[in-house]
Amino acid sequence: MEGDRLKGVHRLTIDGEERIATVNLAPEVKVYGERLIVEEGIEYRLWDPFRSKLAAAIIKGLKTLSFKEGSRVLYLGASTGTTASHISDILGVRGTIFCVEISPRVARELMERCVKHRKNMIPIIEDARKHENYYSIFGHVGVVYCDIAQPDQTDIAISNCKHFLKKGGSLLLAVKSRSIDVTKKPSKIFKEEEKKLEGSGFKVEQIIALEPFDKDHVLMYAVFT
Ligand SMILES: C[S@@+](CC[C@H](N)C(=O)[O-])C[C@H]1O[C@@H](n2cnc3c(N)ncnc32)[C@H](O)[C@@H]1O
Repeated sequence: MEGDRLKGVHRLTIDGEERIATVNLAPEVKVYGERLIVEEGIEYRLWDPFRSKLAAAIIKGLKTLSFKEGSRVLYLGASTGTTASHISDILGVRGTIFCVEISPRVARELMERCVKHRKNMIPIIEDARKHENYYSIFGHVGVVYCDIAQPDQTDIAISNCKHFLKKGGSLLLAVKSRSIDVTKKPSKIFKEEEKKLEGSGFKVEQIIALEPFDKDHVLMYAVFT
């Protein structure tokens, strides 16, 4: 079990290797083929860092998750729920994760794999550029997680934060340099995106390179001041 800052992330030794896992909120249901492990009557889902950038960031030293049991999280680019389902595990029945996904086909998979088994996941099939159309979100959230792999994704994340993130809340932003500009050096792109955040009222606390799990990707952790 982790300390308070990574509460809800469990470390298990499986076949002699340390793995991270969350307690399954939907017993016996897998989301992406992950292994289920039962220890002392508790069912865990192994969290694969090659499939989830948040898992990769935790293994690479993310200092805080910024959410915990009962928190409210806005997730941009939920896809079929690989990472969102682990966040849902940690938030538990008292928390809520609002899952924005632009593709109706992908969102159908999200429903099948996750939403129908997890009461704390609210799907929003919408373009994250049009946050004025998220009718199911009321009030503020404590964390915005953004992984939409679009050239303008930092701007999209910022505008969602200005609308929904409470002051002092956190942004977790996955940045893939090749989605922004294939011709520029990744380090230059990461600096530029960091500057955009700083110019918009964020304090960037940590930038984590996700190698060897994801090439030319970082996860930025920033606080909205
Ligand atoms: C890299 S995948 C996300 C993977 C996911 N975060 C995970 O770890 O399980 C990016 C997702 O963002 C979605 N997406 C792309 N542009 C979007 C937009 N403008 N609004 C909402 N979702 C978008 C894509 O359809 C895709 O499912």
